[in-house]
Amino acid sequence: MNIVAFNSSPRENKTSKTELLLQKFLEGAREAGAATETVYLRQYRIKHCLGCFSCWLQQKGRCVHEDDMTGELLGHLMEADLAVLATPLYHFNMNARMKSFIERTLPLMNPISAHNGKRLGPPWEPKAPKFVALSVCAFPEDYNFQALSMNLRMLYGTDLVAEIYRHSSEFLTAPPLQPRVEEVLNAVARAGSEVVRQGHVSPETMNVVCQDLAPLETLIDMANRFWNEEMQKGEGPAAPAAKDEAVDKYV
Ligand SMILES: Cc1cc2nc3c(=O)[nH]c(=O)nc-3n(C[C@H](O)[C@H](O)[C@H](O)COP(=O)(O)O)c2cc1C
Repeated sequence: MNIVAFNSSPRENKTSKTELLLQKFLEGAREAGAATETVYLRQYRIKHCLGCFSCWLQQKGRCVHEDDMTGELLGHLMEADLAVLATPLYHFNMNARMKSFIERTLPLMNPISAHNGKRLGPPWEPKAPKFVALSVCAFPEDYNFQALSMNLRMLYGTDLVAEIYRHSSEFLTAPPLQPRVEEVLNAVARAGSEVVRQGHVSPETMNVVCQDLAPLETLIDMANRFWNEEMQKGEGPAAPAAKDEAVDKYV
């Protein structure tokens, strides 16, 4: 199985929690025999869709934009048996970079069978990849992913074979929480293996992926204290060390 992962986080790999989870997932997939590749969308020029439908009418299957989406990324996507769409949750949905990427896959869709009155599905020619959604969000609790999940299910229907969503993402690197985080990351790797071996992720594995890292009140309190402290400092991006201290006070 050839897996191509598209990561839309703008953050560097050492700070990105999308990347942390994605690489665990791919590690598990490789253990089960898949070949994997990661494409970092931040490194590519992806213009917005113009809505001109030239890709369906004038130059079938090809967008009018001559950018990296036309030049390289659509090809990568179509080479995949399985595409992992990995996005940080921004404003309760995929981030804009991922949305742009997905909108620009329109040239691969067939306008006739796409309009079946139900969904703008991906009846792509000659073959369509299956999809896995992977996302992280900072707030605690799973319901934060509802809009994203609904969006991707409407887009890909049964071609969406797994959804890996991890809340409380910014606590994944907090040292005092590591024993539980390790369970989570191992379960994400297991999810990768399961998708390759059996085509879906078991509910048991997902329960471990989604488990709480600490009681809800504790997480909310920790997050608020962290941001209060950082804002008082009036400094730039949060230092991981400061975050670890904030966690230490509660665990
Ligand atoms: C513009 C913006 C919007 C965000 N919106 C949400 C949100 O709606 N819900 C949430 O729980 N976290 C939200 N977050 C937090 C990110 O999802 C979280 O920090 C995540 O770890 C970012 O992924 P990354 O580490 O891979 O970049 C937002 C962050 C940014 C920068």
